Amino acid sequence: MKFFIDTANLDDIREAHDLGILDGVTTNPSLMAKEGIAGHDNVMKHYKAICDLVDGDVSAEVISTDFDGMVREGELLAQLDEKIVVKIPMIKDGIKACAYFSAQGIKTNMTLVFSPGQALLAAKAGATYVSPFVGRLDDISSDGLELISKIRHIYDNYGYETQILAASVRHAMHIINCAEIGADVMTGPFSAMLSLLKHPLTDSGLAQFLADHAKANGGK
Ligand code: G3P
Repeated sequence: MKFFIDTANLDDIREAHDLGILDGVTTNPSLMAKEGIAGHDNVMKHYKAICDLVDGDVSAEVISTDFDGMVREGELLAQLDEKIVVKIPMIKDGIKACAYFSAQGIKTNMTLVFSPGQALLAAKAGATYVSPFVGRLDDISSDGLELISKIRHIYDNYGYETQILAASVRHAMHIINCAEIGADVMTGPFSAMLSLLKHPLTDSGLAQFLADHAKANGGK
């Protein structure tokens, strides 16, 4: 399973990349705003800075909600860097834009996906990635992971090549469950990736090893 980091924070992206576990980046307008990135030129510069930091795909979301606007924005984004994936909201014009970009060989990520039917449409439109939001479904007492399972089942039935990018991943168990189900990619904050590290037996075992080593070597 690929690990994408869901942030526009350059320090977090750099740190995850330096750890050697990062396969790509996803952003959205809220994450860009959180970093204080505003204005067309600054936004484009920031996407380019992210692309220069990582080796994998970088999802950059369009703001337009009509087909012509999405095409205009998406083409500009795609020209920035070959790593750019045009992220498109799951609305009617978004599906049309996705099919257009697929025909042009431009990578796409259909976002704000909350149902198997929406994921089926994304695959039909040739999306490179589909982004079902696990955490936001959990937030409303629905089952985000069940959606990932259903999409996996549907895509496997027909051999759709669209990659399931489990988004809105919040913690270690989301990541582990997504891997068990067979999501192609998960995207989440760096803290969620680091939480996979945690185990009390690792900490106590290491403390014991170091203590035994010190004792045997004349330390305390
Ligand atoms: O980028 C889309 C998604 O990953 C957002 O996550 O935590 O805001 O629901 P979250």
